[in-house]
Amino acid sequence: MTAQRPNTTTDAGIPVSSDEYSLTVGPSGPNLLQDAYLIEKLAHFARERVPDRVYHVKGGGAFGYFEVTADVSQWTKSAFLNGVGKRTPMLVRLSSVAGEEGYPDTDRDVRGFAMKFYTEEGNYDLVGNNTPVFFVRDPMKFPDFIHSQERMPDSGLRNNNMQWDFWTLSPESAHQVTILMSDRGTPRSWRHMNGYSSDTYMWENAAGEKFWVKYHFKTEQGIQNFTDAEAKAMRGEDLDHYRRDLWDAIARNDYPSWRLEMQIMPYEDAVNYRFNPFDITKVWPHKDYPTIPIGRMVLDRNPDNFFAQIVQAAFDVANMVPGIGPSPDRMVLGRMFAYADSARYRNGPNYMQLPVNRPRVDVHNYNKDGPMRYRHNGSQPVYAPNSYGGPKADPQRYRDPSWFVAAAEIMRAAYQPHRDDDDFIQPGTLYRQVMTPTDRDHLVGNIIGHLSQEVERPIQERAVNDYWAKVDPDLGTRLARELGLVTPAMAGAQHARGT
Ligand code: HEM
Repeated sequence: MTAQRPNTTTDAGIPVSSDEYSLTVGPSGPNLLQDAYLIEKLAHFARERVPDRVYHVKGGGAFGYFEVTADVSQWTKSAFLNGVGKRTPMLVRLSSVAGEEGYPDTDRDVRGFAMKFYTEEGNYDLVGNNTPVFFVRDPMKFPDFIHSQERMPDSGLRNNNMQWDFWTLSPESAHQVTILMSDRGTPRSWRHMNGYSSDTYMWENAAGEKFWVKYHFKTEQGIQNFTDAEAKAMRGEDLDHYRRDLWDAIARNDYPSWRLEMQIMPYEDAVNYRFNPFDITKVWPHKDYPTIPIGRMVLDRNPDNFFAQIVQAAFDVANMVPGIGPSPDRMVLGRMFAYADSARYRNGPNYMQLPVNRPRVDVHNYNKDGPMRYRHNGSQPVYAPNSYGGPKADPQRYRDPSWFVAAAEIMRAAYQPHRDDDDFIQPGTLYRQVMTPTDRDHLVGNIIGHLSQEVERPIQERAVNDYWAKVDPDLGTRLARELGLVTPAMAGAQHARGT
């Protein structure tokens, strides 16, 4: 026996008489304009898409929780981080950067790692990547960088020449491109990669002491990567490999988890630290600031509806709860504008009222009206200050996170360099001291594979001589040999030998 099924209705809840046939004049006659149900159905269908995210389009996600495993009260007063064993519900969205919805998951790329913590002090969104650094350090260059990874204006094709042109003219990208061209650019799955804040944030404790922090979410599945060949084979087998892998793992109760480890820098250290600690193209070496485990994130629930909970999810870098703040990292400060702006464009000004984005605490403010608003303030006053009740901000209880800025002239300028601020030191150390010989061989192969596709000779030369040879001379020489180029060092050696 089948259960009684509800009768189909229009969106107004009015029962309809057929799921199959439009209203016509007799069986062979024309359709009628008064078929309001057909018109509603076709009109709604044509409006099913919202604009895509401008990048990080292809993704997937799941719900879960964050659990505190250590006492962090000496560094932050954030309520959700205080209390060993405390759990906060979460949403995580993992994504590729370039490429549209439907793009192959395993193509070489950085992966997005966006997290929403539904805390008792409002939503905290931490929007990171699977890499600890980024390609550019000033928001001014960000749209140009993304354009260079997208499609050509004339052919609509992606183009490696454009990518290498931008990267080699932007030496600050060398660290991130070294990671991207290593096998970390092709993770085996989203479960097998780490997540990083990449940016630097501020923590503040109850006594008002401030710290600079970086977040590291270490995969408890272990880091596993595809080789370039494996990633390309998977491209032919399953375009949605990452999305499927995460869904299947959670469906079989094999819940992926990550350990949150923090790098914490005392406030005063920033001024004289050997690298500019707010430059997102740099890591803080762990021997200077070891990582401290403080919590664990587990993903244990698949979405019920992909569109409502993953596509319409909006993560906003500006959503920081008391005890957490931004830092002088220019990228964070630029990003604090961009995400809510994008979400308003995609889902309208009331996107925070969608169930997936709605905080789990009450919202009190004087915003009103706009398309699709359904949380109303009743008859409370619609302005502040007012004499008739309604919310009132208390500056004694809440302060904006702040740091001291020395008086200076307003200007457009690069960051003040610190002692060791050089774009090639850290990628060189990564190549020589962190990578194994196999990692280095794969890096060379991956760079050659990428750099030999459609990249013009002068840009190949610049990539080898002005970029990779500066990361490491041996790497430059290996690439030059493979590409049939001569580096200045090789030319000097030939000259000395009289060849
Ligand atoms: C100034 C530099 C940046 C700007 C202007 C920018 C802007 C944006 C915008 C507009 C979106 C789309 C948001 C939406 O429609 O919901 C986005 C998505 C994203 N961005 Fe950035 N971004 C910047 C740098 C970064 C950096 C440094 C990271 C990583 C550390 C990052 C990680 C992400 C991720 C993971 C997403 C996807 C979020 C999701 O899953 O919904 N972005 N970004």
